[in-house]
Amino acid sequence: MKKERPTPDALCRLLGTRHPLVQAGMVWCTGWELASEVGKAGGLGTLGAGSMYPEELKAEIKQLKAAWGGPFAVNVPLLYPDVEAHMETIAAEGVSVVFTSAGSPKKWTGFLKKAGATVVHVVSSAAFARKAEDAGVDAVVAEGFEAGGHNGREETTTMCLVPEVAEAVSVPVIAAGGIHDARSMLAALALGAAGVQMGSRFVMTRENPAHAAFKQRIADAAAGETRLMLKDVTPVRLLRGPEGSFFDQVSEAEEGGADAEALRLLLGRGRAKRGMREGDLLEGELEIGQVSALLNDLPGAGQLVEQIVKDFKEFNTREMAEGFYWKGLE
Ligand SMILES: Cc1cc2nc3c(=O)[nH]c(=O)nc-3n(C[C@H](O)[C@H](O)[C@H](O)COP(=O)(O)O)c2cc1C
Repeated sequence: MKKERPTPDALCRLLGTRHPLVQAGMVWCTGWELASEVGKAGGLGTLGAGSMYPEELKAEIKQLKAAWGGPFAVNVPLLYPDVEAHMETIAAEGVSVVFTSAGSPKKWTGFLKKAGATVVHVVSSAAFARKAEDAGVDAVVAEGFEAGGHNGREETTTMCLVPEVAEAVSVPVIAAGGIHDARSMLAALALGAAGVQMGSRFVMTRENPAHAAFKQRIADAAAGETRLMLKDVTPVRLLRGPEGSFFDQVSEAEEGGADAEALRLLLGRGRAKRGMREGDLLEGELEIGQVSALLNDLPGAGQLVEQIVKDFKEFNTREMAEGFYWKGLE
């Protein structure tokens, strides 16, 4: 028997939003201003706790609550230090939605659910999606190979991953990786997702706290300038910097057969902050998705959400109703 597919409306009820659109949790590239603008426009804004000290996360949540009274999410990469302190803050502040990633959902899902949160886990394969569902999560993010940030080793693209995950689990699937506008959102829903999560697109917004030099580099980025690197340490999609940059150093080391220890030494500490928050394009780590090749404007985040939703409704009704996709093919 074909199982019933969770609808975008069901996902919205789960997240408490008007639209099935999530602004992703991202190290060094989220903050209360961004999340509140997304929330006010009807999407789900997220604070990326992976680059915050416990006191910072507390302060961000308080500022976000003061700016916007509706739902928002916190993303916690489970491999980071300070996970326990973050979880305590999340429970104490009554955060309504938590996205967990980079680790097993077994350890924290029960705790978060007991605290009253909706739990969403990020996966890169159908097998991980099933494990997350077994652990009791309310939804999963299926994040494809195109995505910015840390990524699965499987290299499965969004186009192939979303239908496989949607088939494997009964909980709503949120598609991520390469989605940046109404058309890619519509495509993700056609593949079986109930909603979408966009990361790179929201780096390129006025309220994003990423450094202006990083945003300019993204605006100038061409296709083929990002690559999934450091697969022997933690796979991450990086954007090429100027000649001799960290990107070139990693490329050279990997081509030369460097082992995990050598790569870890090269990575060192603090590179992500240096690149994305401080704008050091030469020595910093620049995390962004393949879709960077298509991003060259810098809208306000609320305006962006409204435009995507408006275009989405228009394509979904006008183009579908007018039979655009099969015109002349009968
Ligand atoms: C700069 C940057 C930092 C990211 N940091 C995190 C993170 O801390 N935790 C996480 O679960 N995903 C992280 N991601 C992945 C995003 O949450 C999201 O799934 C991804 O950006 C979607 O693909 P897209 O960039 O093509 O939209 C990051 C992505 C970017 C671009």
